[in-house]
Amino acid sequence: MIRIGMMGLGTVGSGVFSILAKHGENIARKVGCDLVIDKVLVQEKDKNRGVMVDSALLTDRPADLLDDPAIQLVVELIGGENPAYQFIVDALKRGKSVVTANKLVVAKYGQELFRLARDNRVNISYEGSVAGGIPVIRPLKESFAANRVEKILGILNGTTNYILSKMSKDGQEFETALQEAQAYGYAERDPSSDLSGLDAAYKIAILASIAFETFVDVNSIYVEGIEGIELEDIDIAAELGYVIKLLAIAKNEQDGLDIRVHPAFVAKDHPLALVNDQYNAIYLHGDAVNDVMSYGRGAGQMPTASAVVADMIQVGKDICQQRVDTLNFHFPVEQTLKNINMVENSYYLRLQVNDQPGVLAQITKVLGDNKVSLASVIQKHKLTPVVPIILVTHRVKEEAVNKSIKMLKQLPDVIAINNLIRVEAL
Ligand SMILES: NC(=O)c1ccc[n+]([C@@H]2O[C@H](COP(=O)([O-])OP(=O)(O)OC[C@H]3O[C@@H](n4cnc5c(N)ncnc54)[C@H](OP(=O)(O)O)[C@@H]3O)[C@@H](O)[C@H]2O)c1
Repeated sequence: MIRIGMMGLGTVGSGVFSILAKHGENIARKVGCDLVIDKVLVQEKDKNRGVMVDSALLTDRPADLLDDPAIQLVVELIGGENPAYQFIVDALKRGKSVVTANKLVVAKYGQELFRLARDNRVNISYEGSVAGGIPVIRPLKESFAANRVEKILGILNGTTNYILSKMSKDGQEFETALQEAQAYGYAERDPSSDLSGLDAAYKIAILASIAFETFVDVNSIYVEGIEGIELEDIDIAAELGYVIKLLAIAKNEQDGLDIRVHPAFVAKDHPLALVNDQYNAIYLHGDAVNDVMSYGRGAGQMPTASAVVADMIQVGKDICQQRVDTLNFHFPVEQTLKNINMVENSYYLRLQVNDQPGVLAQITKVLGDNKVSLASVIQKHKLTPVVPIILVTHRVKEEAVNKSIKMLKQLPDVIAINNLIRVEAL
């Protein structure tokens, strides 16, 4: 029998309880012994919860779990940085294995936690921390172990994918789509971490660290959210044969690691373009396996609980067999990421200009001076003094585009630069 201390009985914690109640016997057979939840740490013991839990299990004292030598496995489902990080450290130091779905803690402190686990001869598993129910961490460590993974492209945030899908398919404004996502429970009340791209950055930092056998510091990832995307951009993207997605990108290139999160034009016949609503997907390229895509629910109670319980089964087996999962214990040096200015892409640029003869010539001169060549130019004819111009460049270093934008802003007939979106060659 393996005694478990659960930390957190909120959305995911309750889902874990339901799965263990429903499939307990089958799970025990898979593990080789019973998984028994001994204690559950919560904030408010008297809260009304939508799950049947013996109230005698509930505690609001972390020491009841951490100082109990009979507890061999701690499942951290509190979320946030602290006290979750400190609880995980304390559990590992006391010789307890850990399962967590906490992307923030794994992305920020992974290396330290893996070392602690190794030093204390216990395991730490975190499949639920990236893409909820979609298996990706164990496949990266095990199923693709024979490959040099060259590229990972992820739609790793359900909230932003839902909003962009609704804007694209139903013509909804950003705010309306966000409110709908909140009403359905796909977006949190404070959606800033999702909208700003930070949530996806934690996740791609974790995936890239495993895939490229390095440690990716989340603070050095270039991150841009979807707050600036307007319906007009979505409509023009469609006219040009693209959809806009918030992509988490990790490429292992000759001249360094290119890791970034931002909205991007994705060709509408690419498999990632078909990933809509709250769904997530991970598209990767390995030198042996070639292209592989996984698709599913990237968050939510039961999909995330599915990943957490799968980790509990794996770690439970390891505890039963007194085995330590050495795949976590590889500590390569941190690599510097490529600066976004050095990244090469095609770019979509939407401007507002005075409807005057010669404006386009001024714009193309600025671009030409910076060696930015154009793939297409769309001039929208309107009976207004200010009109939109849409430019799509050929592949060029971002540095040249940024220089051009600075110069374009100086032109008297350029009223506004509305948006710059990367056209991702997938
Ligand atoms: N929800 C998802 O769809 C999803 C998807 C992927 C990953 N995750 C990750 O899963 C983890 C859990 O998320 P969740 O959505 O289940 O969170 P949640 O619904 O907010 O639940 C958090 C639980 O932790 C307890 N808690 C919070 N602070 C505590 C403290 N200081 N001491 C003791 N207990 C504390 C709360 O107690 P009370 O109940 O008493 O308030 C609650 O039971 C997070 O790391 C999250 O990022 C969630």
